[in-house]
Amino acid sequence: MGPKGVILAGGLGSRLSPLTKITNKHLLPIYCKPMIYYPIQTLVDAGITDILIVTGGAHAGEFLRLLGNGAKFGLKHINYTYQEGEGGIAEALRLARHFADNDKIVVILGDNIIQKSIKKQVDEFRTQERGARILLKKVGDPHRFGVAGFKNGKITSIVEKPKNPKSKYAVTGIYMYDSQVFDIIKTLKPSHRGELEITDVNNAYLKMGQMEHSILDGWWTDAGTFDSLLRANNLVAKAGCGKVRQ
Ligand code: DAU
Repeated sequence: MGPKGVILAGGLGSRLSPLTKITNKHLLPIYCKPMIYYPIQTLVDAGITDILIVTGGAHAGEFLRLLGNGAKFGLKHINYTYQEGEGGIAEALRLARHFADNDKIVVILGDNIIQKSIKKQVDEFRTQERGARILLKKVGDPHRFGVAGFKNGKITSIVEKPKNPKSKYAVTGIYMYDSQVFDIIKTLKPSHRGELEITDVNNAYLKMGQMEHSILDGWWTDAGTFDSLLRANNLVAKAGCGKVRQ
């Protein structure tokens, strides 16, 4: 049993306006499928079938219309909840407390698309006694992401969108947490951009000495800007709709 899966698909997608004026960002197409299909399949492929989708905005009802109870993914049921406003990734995650019910969770951002399975990393987390595990990926443009700094192979810090990144290792939008995460979120203060930051959650685990990491295999992209949306479409198209995990 466990961990449970949480997909964060709230926010207003303002960086993609006007594409997101009349729909939710996570319903936009990535080549042959709506964006939200990819993170769902990522969780299902890792053996996670108890899934919560956190969404928000004016088009939240469309998720239910599109996904129903998740039969397309072999699921019997999907849980949904609604985030008012866009107070940040950690604020959206806070809404998962009731669903998590003290179990471990694997969280994936609704706009993160990956090539390969994360089953191996999820299995590592299954055997991890406590704490958190993040997945890192070497990228050419680390300043767009949370970035890890290292000493002797251990993460020493994570900085959100640094001007001078300490490494090329981005923190991907796939996070694994034990139930302490909800107490950590309670202690957070909004950042300069007015959001509860997931990077602050990760730094809290680091401080407690309870943060593990794995390197993600295969390509990884977000899809929240025009350039990354195009990149995501191209990567999936190149992999072939039937071949990439969908
Ligand atoms: O993609 C990985 C990056 O995602 C990480 O490296 C960063 O550390 C992390 O902060 C995040 O950065 P972004 O600035 O790209 O996140 P963004 O605001 O685009 O939100 C990503 C997803 O999170 C979005 O597709 C839906 C969800 N979200 C976001 C916000 C702000 C919510 O569900 N609610 C929210 O209020």
